[in-house]
Amino acid sequence: MTNQTADGQRSRILIFDTTLRDGEQSPGASLNLHEKVEIAHALDQLGVDIIEAGFPITSPGDFESVRTIAGEIKRATVAGLARCTERDVRRAGEAVQHANHGRIHIFCATSKIHREFKLRKAKEEIIRLTVENIKLAKDFTSDIEFSPEDASRTEPDFLAEVVHAAIDAGATTINCPDTVGYATPEEYRRLFEDLIAHVPGADKVIFSAHCHDDLGLAVANSLAAVQGGARQIECTINGIGERAGNAALEEITMALHTRADFYPYTTGINSSRLVPISRLVSTLTGLHVQRNKAIVGENAFAHESGIHQDGMLKERRTYEIMSPADVGLVQTKLVLGKHSGRHAFRKRLEELGHRLEDASLDKAFEQFKMLCDKKKEIYDEDLEALVEQQLEGERQLFNLTNMQVMSGMNGTATAMVTLTDSAGTQITDAATGDGPIDAMFAAISRLTKISATLDSYQVRSVTGGKEAQGEVSVELSHSGRRIRGRGFSTDILEASARAYLTAINRIRTMTERKISQGSPLEA
Ligand code: KIV
Ligand code: ZN
Repeated sequence: MTNQTADGQRSRILIFDTTLRDGEQSPGASLNLHEKVEIAHALDQLGVDIIEAGFPITSPGDFESVRTIAGEIKRATVAGLARCTERDVRRAGEAVQHANHGRIHIFCATSKIHREFKLRKAKEEIIRLTVENIKLAKDFTSDIEFSPEDASRTEPDFLAEVVHAAIDAGATTINCPDTVGYATPEEYRRLFEDLIAHVPGADKVIFSAHCHDDLGLAVANSLAAVQGGARQIECTINGIGERAGNAALEEITMALHTRADFYPYTTGINSSRLVPISRLVSTLTGLHVQRNKAIVGENAFAHESGIHQDGMLKERRTYEIMSPADVGLVQTKLVLGKHSGRHAFRKRLEELGHRLEDASLDKAFEQFKMLCDKKKEIYDEDLEALVEQQLEGERQLFNLTNMQVMSGMNGTATAMVTLTDSAGTQITDAATGDGPIDAMFAAISRLTKISATLDSYQVRSVTGGKEAQGEVSVELSHSGRRIRGRGFSTDILEASARAYLTAINRIRTMTERKISQGSPLEA
């Protein structure tokens, strides 16, 4: 059973990346325009076929980022998401209409539970809306994707009916999402086989898989869909996304690549860009990659046991099915030092996937020189930390200017903190606490007038060695949401203050966005 891509190739799998849309829906992740554009360029370099850049109706900011990315990205197709309504489709159409290759991605829930409880619409109405809105979308672009949301829990007959109507109305890609991560690989594969075998016109469109990881099956389901005839896979970098996340792009593409003997398909992905883009997305979203994460985790190529190390020394392939270089993992090495120039600094950042604008680069270079005074050896991890701090600083409403802490074994600790706000005004306040960190956080909360509950606090060393920078990660909760922040410094108290302030700044941004958006979207 096969379904061919538009250019007639049966073995090419299109990679549709939704890091900037479904991925950005991860709790705690939110990206500004510059960050989204930076990720879009990195995705383009990685070789993805389609970049879903956002959901234009949700906010002016989302509209602007889809429009900007559509204007800047020339090779990959740029998609904007829309519900099945005229307002959504027009907004998505306006956002992508000047793209070199623009796509409108329309979705409408089809499962019984969504029809009855969420949409309160009958089957006939869902078909009518699907047809009307696909036809409307055609006024903006010929490239239309339609997703029957919760497809895997939709009655098979009704699913086939909707898909048929969507194809007749002009959809060119049919995406069947496993929206709640409920399907098993066998079922999901069959869903595609049945639609492709029985729906009239199925041979004229590309079928696509979109899987969530609630049962940890997202990647397995996506690969099963390919075996069932799907020729597009929707996924995200590091598998970020709603709840347990989406299928991870790096896992899917490396499974196809490493097991080409079993999966006779190709993708356009340049696998040596996988680790750099994973780090970029982790840095910009603040979402940590777990150590044992396949392909891009810190331990993915680490061999601890003596037997494994011995085997590796004799023949790498005894315990490694991929080479670290294939995924862009270069041995951590001393990269730059005190005497390195701006040019070498920019080049190394670009190799790591960061394209900084001149003004940001100048500031980051200044920080780099300051770090060289504190630390003789600068590693890639130090550069990543430095860029994160720099980019984070640029979007902060408050920046850390100074801090002084007094603490001892008996009695309370006191912290005095100075922040600079976006207008350049310095504000200082002091607070006491159970320890130096508690006191600093209290002072920051007083200054920013935002208090949140500290749920988690973790410290780790960015690299080895006595002079290493410390990385502090905090997780706060505020108004029912979880927000993360990271901070770096050779001084662990400063790193703590930076991490806490980053999270507080994100809360401020989210609160402001909420006020400007009004009530939340209804699907
Ligand atoms: O999971 C889902 O159903 C989606 C759709 C909008 C495609 O993200
Ligand atoms: Zn999704």
